[in-house]
Amino acid sequence: MNTIKAYIKDNKNRFIDELIELLKIPSISADAAFNKEILLSADFVKKSLEKAGCDKVELCDTPGNPIIYGEKIIDKNLPTVLVYGHYDVQPADPIELWTSPPFEPVIKKTEIHPEGAIFARGSCDDKGQMYMHVKALEYMTSTGNLPCNVKFMIEGEEEVGSESLSWFVPRNKEKLANDVILISDTGMIANDIPSITTGLRGLSYVEVEITGPNRDLHSGLYGGAVANPINILTKMIASLHDENNHITIPGFYDNVEELSTEERSEMAKAPFSLEDYKAALAIDDVYGENGFTTNERNAIRPTLDVNGIWGGYIGEGAKTVIASKAYAKISMRLVPNQDWKEITKLFKKHFESIAPKSVKVKVTPHHGGQGYVTPIDNIGYKSASKAYQTTFNKTPIPQRSGGSIPIVALFEQELKSKTILMGFGLNSDAIHSPDEHFGVWNYLKGIETIPYFYQYFTELSSTENQ
Ligand code: BES
Ligand code: MN
Ligand code: MN
Repeated sequence: MNTIKAYIKDNKNRFIDELIELLKIPSISADAAFNKEILLSADFVKKSLEKAGCDKVELCDTPGNPIIYGEKIIDKNLPTVLVYGHYDVQPADPIELWTSPPFEPVIKKTEIHPEGAIFARGSCDDKGQMYMHVKALEYMTSTGNLPCNVKFMIEGEEEVGSESLSWFVPRNKEKLANDVILISDTGMIANDIPSITTGLRGLSYVEVEITGPNRDLHSGLYGGAVANPINILTKMIASLHDENNHITIPGFYDNVEELSTEERSEMAKAPFSLEDYKAALAIDDVYGENGFTTNERNAIRPTLDVNGIWGGYIGEGAKTVIASKAYAKISMRLVPNQDWKEITKLFKKHFESIAPKSVKVKVTPHHGGQGYVTPIDNIGYKSASKAYQTTFNKTPIPQRSGGSIPIVALFEQELKSKTILMGFGLNSDAIHSPDEHFGVWNYLKGIETIPYFYQYFTELSSTENQ
């Protein structure tokens, strides 16, 4: 299959240009003002799968944004790979912090990406990584190198909780039946240290509202005599961690899996420089739960973080006021075995219980999802590992990630299949941030590596079935 290299060389510029066209569409799922762009993006994906050689491509209506389903079935007796990805993107704000406009993709060289990186919202998360699969498919179908069946399911609500996909999957189990699910929506350690993601954290996302007096008050006339919702809210939030940075919600850690000393020392073997980590973020020190390393803190330990907080006067100058309400958005990253619905309940109960009588508390759950861990002794993982060995000349390191793709646990539950997470992004690619980018080298390396996964998976499936 050496021809993949040649194919990429011949088509490289077109591959980049096509992705740039897709990145120009601001398909922001969080904001209804971009509904038209969501549809344009879905249509782009549909046409691209048709061009890449799918026999059947459908735009599937859902209660929310459409899901694109495509397939090429070459032989019912061969294994089937189901590719999942998302065409929706995060909002671009704060827009003023971008060095080039988020939906006008440009290629710029960076220290980490000397061959250039495409700067645009969605370049790495996930349009760029999803499109690698479309181009790998194009290669395989156009050169007679597709060794098995393939199905694609590309959704448009991942960044807002995949509600429509949770509706779609149980209703289309037969259509989506597969032997393995393949996703590129995570990262790897570095371009010379390939890794395969073996775990994702779960998530519970809640919004809280504290109400004090029934109207905003003069902070002189009333200050000191009534509860200030902002003071109270910040105090309540501060109490959610103790002096060891443990979360204080009763029962929060009940189901957290404790890793053995061996498992932890295995994890610690992954290359990691704390100095580089701090330098990349311009921080003098890291911060987190006592007793755990930085990698452990964001892979095997649960967390609680305020994502946004507001209330009161934030305009120019000074206004003396005690606001009637204060708000915060809080996310809890969970580890496998912690049930996100249970954790949401525990949070609500605890948060309501710690509020003084002088305020009212409202806790509104948003979305959530279960964490995921995948074993490495299955043929899916082995095929991915061999694929990286072929194109990177190195054995990839299994690594749990701190991020979440809640739908992966649902896939396992509904479709009974394992997911292999072959991510080609880097942590420094600034996903969800201003100046998100995706290395051109990474994009092309992904396209090069994916066909080998298909080849090895097909080979290993047939030896296993003998
Ligand atoms: N692709 C990311 C998740 C990710 C990124 C996992 C890097 C591992 C490494 C995905 O698009 C995402 O942003 N997920 C959200 C959760 C979702 C429910 C909004 C997240 O992790 O915050
Ligand atoms: Mn993503
Ligand atoms: Mn994302």
